Amino acid sequence: MKNSFKTFLKHTAKDFHNQSVNPPVVRASTIIFKSMKHIRNTQSKAKKNPTGGHYDYGRQGTSTTHILQKILTKLEESYHVFTTPTGFGAVFLAIFSVTRPGDEIIIADPVYMPTRLLTENFLKEFNIKTIFYDPKNLKTLEQNITKKTKLIFVENPGSNTFDFQDLGKIISIAKKNKILTAIDNTWGTPYFLKPISIGFDMSIVSATKYYSGHSDVMGGSLAVNQKVFKYVEKAQKITGLRLGPDDAYLITRGLRTLDVRLDKHYDNAMKVAAFLSKNKKVKLLYPYKKRSQNYKMWKKYYSGASGLMGLMIKAKNKKSVIKFVNSLKLFGYGYSWGGFESLALHQGKSERGNRKYLNLNKNERLVRLHIGLEDSTDLIADLKQALKHVK
Ligand SMILES: Cc1ncc(COP(=O)(O)O)c(C=O)c1O
Repeated sequence: MKNSFKTFLKHTAKDFHNQSVNPPVVRASTIIFKSMKHIRNTQSKAKKNPTGGHYDYGRQGTSTTHILQKILTKLEESYHVFTTPTGFGAVFLAIFSVTRPGDEIIIADPVYMPTRLLTENFLKEFNIKTIFYDPKNLKTLEQNITKKTKLIFVENPGSNTFDFQDLGKIISIAKKNKILTAIDNTWGTPYFLKPISIGFDMSIVSATKYYSGHSDVMGGSLAVNQKVFKYVEKAQKITGLRLGPDDAYLITRGLRTLDVRLDKHYDNAMKVAAFLSKNKKVKLLYPYKKRSQNYKMWKKYYSGASGLMGLMIKAKNKKSVIKFVNSLKLFGYGYSWGGFESLALHQGKSERGNRKYLNLNKNERLVRLHIGLEDSTDLIADLKQALKHVK
């Protein structure tokens, strides 16, 4: 009998030695061996089986981080998963592992702002050029490919705009041109989309969000196929970008309920979307309206949707949009998302950055909502009273 992934999440990583349901936190810098021979044996095992969880020093992780990596490798259906101290660390590791001075990267225009700053500003100083493409028009991707293009970096859906792209088409363009691909899959997580199995070389998830699920830990994961494994392994060793065991423990604990929480975020978000889609002042940025291109692209690749959505609000009076956000009583105002609680954020210039293809009209404003695990009836009632302020 083959158990489903939901069952695997509940039953995996038990510590039979200590008879505990959850594996212990193993904190270590120095690892003590029985003899020098034992050290050498471990090192040669690590060489022969680099994904096997052998380690001779704490910077390579301990059993606590390796257990998490094993669970994530199964969830991602990937060759291996590397874990990093933050989600952004995983973004950096993916790009740093495969690009070198003289290379070019093509990136979706609405990527997460720090990813944009990393490529557009920082990597420029290392002679790595970034070109942005319009996720709604993949011709802007194809047209910008040159002999120097090393990597196509996708974020799906795009931060702020929530555009869903034709992922299969991007992969076939990349394969035709022998270009590597990476995707930031924090929104969907491999519970709803498995990027490595549809052909991406690398897939990033900020574990800070749904994996941990409780807004009290930071971490990241980078899933890879066999082709890029060796590059990322080398880069991780050089940068020392490793997740600590206490954070790994909390993320493993969060993963136990990933499916239950995401199913509920999905259900709540769809109910909120149904309510918001009736409001004339709001253009909903969420895969809800069946005839929209975004819905079709989402449906083609995802088995569900998470709780993060955007609202494009038309208002003559800009201050009234801020008033709408400030009037929400059940939504906290703050960065990040993916925890059990609802959040709201007005997306000003500092959150959006210089988007090339985001043509907001003067009277259009962006608000981001994270739909948490509260009772959806209460969330809808709260939104209803706050939306009255939009003028
Ligand atoms: C889409 C996306 N990717 C990556 C990150 C970075 O993750 P972290 O905050 O864990 O560094 C974030 C954080 O908000 C995000 O929204």
